[in-house]
Amino acid sequence: MTDPTPTVHESNRKFYDRIADAYDLIADSNEKAARRAGVKALALKPGEAVVELGFGTGNEVLDLAGLVGPTGTVSGVDISPGMLAVARRKLATTPPACPVNLLVGDARSLPFADASFDAAYTSFTLELFPAEDIPAVLSEAKRVLKPGGRLAVVSMSVVPAGQHTSALERTYVWMHRHFPHLVDCRPIDAPALVTAAGFRVTTRQELTIWTMPVAVVVGEK
Ligand SMILES: C[S@@+](CC[C@H](N)C(=O)[O-])C[C@H]1O[C@@H](n2cnc3c(N)ncnc32)[C@H](O)[C@@H]1O
Repeated sequence: MTDPTPTVHESNRKFYDRIADAYDLIADSNEKAARRAGVKALALKPGEAVVELGFGTGNEVLDLAGLVGPTGTVSGVDISPGMLAVARRKLATTPPACPVNLLVGDARSLPFADASFDAAYTSFTLELFPAEDIPAVLSEAKRVLKPGGRLAVVSMSVVPAGQHTSALERTYVWMHRHFPHLVDCRPIDAPALVTAAGFRVTTRQELTIWTMPVAVVVGEK
């Protein structure tokens, strides 16, 4: 018998399928600077293989491809076929600088062999996962990275107790706690999570989007 209660992952897929065509209008301009800071922090080199977890509408795919160049590769997984369709349209309009392989898939179980990538990138995605699933996502990122491979995480960032100055951050936390079906994400402690997954944190930057703290973290395997 099928479980009548959809999992959070099934809800996410449906949610992003529904908003895929409008996603860039809602999120792109606000989040672009943070996404680009994450891509820059990865310090990609020509010829590298990079994978993106939760590539969304493919906003960083072209940038990643430009940095690894024609001898590199960009791969990615996203749970939403709707987001993949938007990303594919973008790539059809602006051909990427290297081979690109985007798939529908779940970041908790990546369809890639061990040690296949030099770098992994994820933005505004890790904070969608329930706390108990985040270690699985990070462990999969680690598995598919080569020794010495880098993982960049861009995410909404937790504020230490007693230091909440952003009303927007407090609103996200409250809305996610009380109405998780409306607000699917919440701030997370990305440096601590990346460290707990066995990465050595080499870069840590704090930015803000409309006062909301955002972390850019790079961990090395
Ligand atoms: C907030 S969007 C961010 C998209 C993109 N990274 C960006 O910064 O513009 C989150 C993305 O994560 C994807 N996602 C959600 N759950 C996922 C999962 N379990 N595995 C892979 N992707 C997932 C969603 O479909 C969506 O495209």
